[in-house]
Amino acid sequence: MRIAFITDLHIGADGEKPTDVDVRQNFLKALAFLPQIKPACVVLGGDLCLETGDRAVYTWIREELEKLPYPYRVIAGNHDSSALMADVFGLSHHLHGNELYYALPLEGRPALFLDSSAGEFSPAQWTWLGDYMDALRGNNLLVFMHHPPLPADVTFMDSHYPFRQSDQFLDMVRDLPCHVTVVCGHYHVEKMVQRGNLLALLTPSTYLQMKHDSVEMVVDNFSIGVREINLTTHGTNSTVHYI
Ligand SMILES: [Fe+2]
Repeated sequence: MRIAFITDLHIGADGEKPTDVDVRQNFLKALAFLPQIKPACVVLGGDLCLETGDRAVYTWIREELEKLPYPYRVIAGNHDSSALMADVFGLSHHLHGNELYYALPLEGRPALFLDSSAGEFSPAQWTWLGDYMDALRGNNLLVFMHHPPLPADVTFMDSHYPFRQSDQFLDMVRDLPCHVTVVCGHYHVEKMVQRGNLLALLTPSTYLQMKHDSVEMVVDNFSIGVREINLTTHGTNSTVHYI
Protein backbone atom coordinates (compact mmCIF):
# COMPACT_ATOMS: atom_id res chain seq x y z
CA MET A 1 0.00 0.00 0.00
CA ARG A 2 1.05 3.58 -0.57
CA ILE A 3 0.95 6.28 2.10
CA ALA A 4 1.46 10.00 1.54
CA PHE A 5 3.03 11.79 4.51
CA ILE A 6 2.67 15.57 4.70
CA THR A 7 4.12 17.42 7.66
CA ASP A 8 4.95 20.72 9.33
CA LEU A 9 2.30 22.81 7.63
CA HIS A 10 2.73 25.68 10.13
CA ILE A 11 -0.54 27.33 9.22
CA GLY A 12 -1.47 30.50 11.12
CA ALA A 13 -4.43 32.83 11.00
CA ASP A 14 -6.25 33.38 7.72
CA GLY A 15 -4.01 35.48 5.49
CA GLU A 16 -0.93 35.10 7.71
CA LYS A 17 2.25 34.48 5.69
CA PRO A 18 5.22 33.57 7.91
CA THR A 19 8.53 34.45 6.24
CA ASP A 20 6.35 35.65 3.35
CA VAL A 21 5.30 32.06 2.59
CA ASP A 22 1.68 31.34 1.71
CA VAL A 23 1.55 28.25 3.90
CA ARG A 24 -2.14 27.54 3.19
CA GLN A 25 -1.50 27.61 -0.54
CA ASN A 26 1.53 25.36 -0.05
CA PHE A 27 -0.60 22.80 1.78
CA LEU A 28 -3.21 22.94 -0.96
CA LYS A 29 -0.46 22.41 -3.54
CA ALA A 30 0.69 19.33 -1.62
CA LEU A 31 -2.87 17.98 -1.61
CA ALA A 32 -3.28 18.79 -5.32
CA PHE A 33 -0.17 16.72 -6.02
CA LEU A 34 -1.62 13.57 -4.43
CA PRO A 35 -3.51 12.30 -7.52
CA GLN A 36 -0.12 11.86 -9.17
CA ILE A 37 0.84 9.19 -6.64
CA LYS A 38 -2.65 7.91 -5.71
CA PRO A 39 -2.06 7.09 -2.04
CA ALA A 40 -4.27 4.67 -0.14
CA CYS A 41 -3.99 6.92 2.89
CA VAL A 42 -2.67 10.36 3.88
CA VAL A 43 -0.95 11.05 7.19
CA LEU A 44 -0.34 14.56 8.53
CA GLY A 45 2.78 14.55 10.70
CA GLY A 46 2.17 17.38 13.13
CA ASP A 47 2.88 21.09 13.43
CA LEU A 48 -0.32 21.74 11.56
CA CYS A 49 -0.39 25.11 13.33
CA LEU A 50 2.16 27.89 13.01
CA GLU A 51 2.88 28.46 16.70
CA THR A 52 0.07 27.17 18.90
CA GLY A 53 -3.00 24.99 18.44
CA ASP A 54 -5.90 26.82 16.79
CA ARG A 55 -9.38 25.37 16.33
CA ALA A 56 -10.05 27.45 13.20
CA VAL A 57 -6.86 26.19 11.55
CA TYR A 58 -7.66 22.55 12.35
CA THR A 59 -11.17 23.01 11.05
CA TRP A 60 -9.91 24.49 7.76
CA ILE A 61 -7.43 21.62 7.35
CA ARG A 62 -10.12 19.02 8.09
CA GLU A 63 -12.45 20.57 5.53
CA GLU A 64 -9.72 20.47 2.89
CA LEU A 65 -8.86 16.84 3.71
CA GLU A 66 -12.50 15.82 3.51
CA LYS A 67 -12.70 17.05 -0.08
CA LEU A 68 -10.25 14.28 -1.02
CA PRO A 69 -11.03 10.64 -1.78
CA TYR A 70 -8.33 9.36 0.62
CA PRO A 71 -8.71 8.36 4.26
CA TYR A 72 -6.41 10.37 6.48
CA ARG A 73 -4.78 10.27 9.90
CA VAL A 74 -3.28 13.07 11.97
CA ILE A 75 -0.66 13.27 14.73
CA ALA A 76 0.37 16.25 16.86
CA GLY A 77 3.59 18.25 16.81
CA ASN A 78 5.11 20.65 19.31
CA HIS A 79 3.17 23.56 17.79
CA ASP A 80 -0.17 21.77 18.17
CA SER A 81 -2.75 21.17 20.85
CA SER A 82 -3.41 17.43 20.99
CA ALA A 83 -6.71 17.98 22.79
CA LEU A 84 -7.97 20.48 20.21
CA MET A 85 -6.89 18.21 17.38
CA ALA A 86 -8.65 15.25 18.96
CA ASP A 87 -11.81 17.31 19.22
CA VAL A 88 -11.78 18.74 15.70
CA PHE A 89 -10.73 15.50 13.97
CA GLY A 90 -13.12 13.27 15.92
CA LEU A 91 -10.37 11.43 17.79
CA SER A 92 -11.37 12.17 21.38
CA HIS A 93 -11.57 8.43 22.13
CA HIS A 94 -7.80 8.32 21.41
CA LEU A 95 -6.96 11.22 23.71
CA HIS A 96 -5.16 10.00 26.83
CA GLY A 97 -4.66 12.90 29.21
CA ASN A 98 -3.08 15.55 27.00
CA GLU A 99 -1.71 13.04 24.48
CA LEU A 100 -3.28 11.82 21.24
CA TYR A 101 -1.91 8.37 20.43
CA TYR A 102 -3.46 5.33 18.85
CA ALA A 103 -2.89 2.18 16.83
CA LEU A 104 -4.79 1.60 13.63
CA PRO A 105 -4.04 -0.88 10.90
CA LEU A 106 -3.21 0.40 7.44
CA GLU A 107 -4.60 -2.25 5.09
CA GLY A 108 -4.11 -4.84 7.80
CA ARG A 109 -0.57 -3.80 8.72
CA PRO A 110 0.04 -2.57 12.25
CA ALA A 111 0.73 1.15 12.44
CA LEU A 112 1.26 3.25 15.54
CA PHE A 113 0.48 6.96 15.71
CA LEU A 114 2.35 8.53 18.62
CA ASP A 115 2.30 11.89 20.38
CA SER A 116 5.73 13.46 20.86
CA SER A 117 4.35 16.99 20.98
CA ALA A 118 5.90 17.58 24.41
CA GLY A 119 9.31 16.48 23.10
CA GLU A 120 8.89 13.26 25.09
CA PHE A 121 6.30 10.60 25.94
CA SER A 122 4.48 10.42 29.25
CA PRO A 123 4.98 7.27 31.35
CA ALA A 124 1.48 6.19 30.28
CA GLN A 125 2.37 6.47 26.60
CA TRP A 126 5.58 4.50 27.17
CA THR A 127 3.59 1.75 28.87
CA TRP A 128 1.04 1.69 26.04
CA LEU A 129 3.83 1.62 23.44
CA GLY A 130 5.66 -1.19 25.21
CA ASP A 131 2.48 -3.24 25.43
CA TYR A 132 1.82 -2.76 21.71
CA MET A 133 5.36 -3.68 20.76
CA ASP A 134 5.09 -6.84 22.86
CA ALA A 135 1.76 -7.73 21.28
CA LEU A 136 3.04 -7.09 17.76
CA ARG A 137 6.36 -8.84 18.34
CA GLY A 138 7.63 -10.30 15.09
CA ASN A 139 5.66 -7.94 12.87
CA ASN A 140 7.57 -5.21 11.13
CA LEU A 141 6.32 -1.98 12.66
CA LEU A 142 5.41 1.29 11.06
CA VAL A 143 5.41 4.22 13.47
CA PHE A 144 4.37 7.80 12.88
CA MET A 145 5.60 10.45 15.31
CA HIS A 146 6.39 14.13 14.90
CA HIS A 147 9.93 14.11 16.29
CA PRO A 148 12.74 11.95 14.91
CA PRO A 149 13.20 9.36 17.68
CA LEU A 150 17.00 9.71 17.63
CA PRO A 151 19.59 12.39 16.81
CA ALA A 152 19.95 12.92 13.08
CA ASP A 153 23.12 15.03 12.70
CA VAL A 154 21.01 18.10 12.08
CA THR A 155 22.98 20.43 14.31
CA PHE A 156 20.48 23.11 15.26
CA MET A 157 17.49 20.84 15.80
CA ASP A 158 19.45 18.07 17.55
CA SER A 159 20.83 20.60 20.03
CA HIS A 160 17.72 22.77 20.56
CA TYR A 161 14.54 20.74 19.89
CA PRO A 162 15.29 17.00 19.95
CA PHE A 163 13.14 14.14 21.16
CA ARG A 164 14.47 14.01 24.70
CA GLN A 165 14.00 10.28 25.27
CA SER A 166 15.90 8.87 22.32
CA ASP A 167 17.93 6.49 24.53
CA GLN A 168 14.74 5.03 25.93
CA PHE A 169 13.31 4.65 22.42
CA LEU A 170 16.45 2.91 21.18
CA ASP A 171 16.44 0.60 24.21
CA MET A 172 12.85 -0.35 23.48
CA VAL A 173 13.32 -1.30 19.84
CA ARG A 174 16.88 -2.66 19.92
CA ASP A 175 16.01 -6.26 20.73
CA LEU A 176 12.81 -6.54 18.76
CA PRO A 177 12.99 -9.32 16.16
CA CYS A 178 11.63 -7.02 13.48
CA HIS A 179 12.25 -3.80 11.61
CA VAL A 180 10.85 -0.56 13.00
CA THR A 181 10.29 2.22 10.46
CA VAL A 182 9.57 5.63 11.97
CA VAL A 183 8.16 8.28 9.67
CA CYS A 184 8.63 11.74 11.15
CA GLY A 185 8.96 15.47 10.50
CA HIS A 186 9.83 18.32 12.85
CA TYR A 187 13.40 18.88 11.57
CA HIS A 188 12.37 20.40 8.22
CA VAL A 189 14.90 18.28 6.34
CA GLU A 190 14.91 15.23 4.13
CA LYS A 191 17.07 12.60 5.77
CA MET A 192 17.27 8.89 6.48
CA VAL A 193 18.82 7.66 9.73
CA GLN A 194 19.39 3.98 10.35
CA ARG A 195 20.56 2.40 13.59
CA GLY A 196 20.25 -1.33 14.17
CA ASN A 197 16.74 -2.40 13.28
CA LEU A 198 15.45 1.18 13.44
CA LEU A 199 15.01 3.29 10.33
CA ALA A 200 13.87 6.92 10.68
CA LEU A 201 12.61 8.75 7.62
CA LEU A 202 12.79 12.50 8.24
CA THR A 203 10.39 14.35 6.00
CA PRO A 204 10.60 17.90 4.72
CA SER A 205 7.96 20.48 5.52
CA THR A 206 5.38 22.11 3.29
CA TYR A 207 6.60 25.46 4.71
CA LEU A 208 10.40 25.66 4.48
CA GLN A 209 13.47 23.43 4.71
CA MET A 210 16.45 23.99 7.00
CA LYS A 211 20.20 23.64 6.62
CA HIS A 212 21.54 20.45 8.21
CA ASP A 213 24.91 21.61 9.51
CA SER A 214 24.26 25.10 10.85
CA VAL A 215 24.41 25.84 14.59
CA GLU A 216 21.76 28.52 14.04
CA MET A 217 18.42 28.04 12.34
CA VAL A 218 19.12 28.79 8.67
CA VAL A 219 16.62 28.32 5.86
CA ASP A 220 17.90 26.09 3.09
CA ASN A 221 15.04 26.45 0.60
CA PHE A 222 11.31 26.97 0.26
CA SER A 223 10.36 23.90 -1.72
CA ILE A 224 7.29 21.89 -0.69
CA GLY A 225 7.98 18.29 0.30
CA VAL A 226 5.66 15.27 0.29
CA ARG A 227 6.90 11.83 1.32
CA GLU A 228 5.61 8.70 -0.39
CA ILE A 229 5.94 5.41 1.50
CA ASN A 230 5.27 2.07 -0.16
CA LEU A 231 4.67 -1.03 1.93
CA THR A 232 5.07 -4.04 -0.33
CA THR A 233 5.33 -7.78 0.11
CA HIS A 234 9.07 -7.46 -0.55
CA GLY A 235 9.79 -4.62 1.84
CA THR A 236 9.39 -0.89 2.36
CA ASN A 237 10.53 1.89 0.08
CA SER A 238 10.11 5.62 0.23
CA THR A 239 10.80 8.73 -1.77
CA VAL A 240 10.27 12.46 -1.33
CA HIS A 241 8.59 14.54 -3.98
CA TYR A 242 9.23 18.29 -4.23
CA ILE A 243 6.50 20.36 -5.70
FE1 LIG B 1 7.97 20.55 15.17
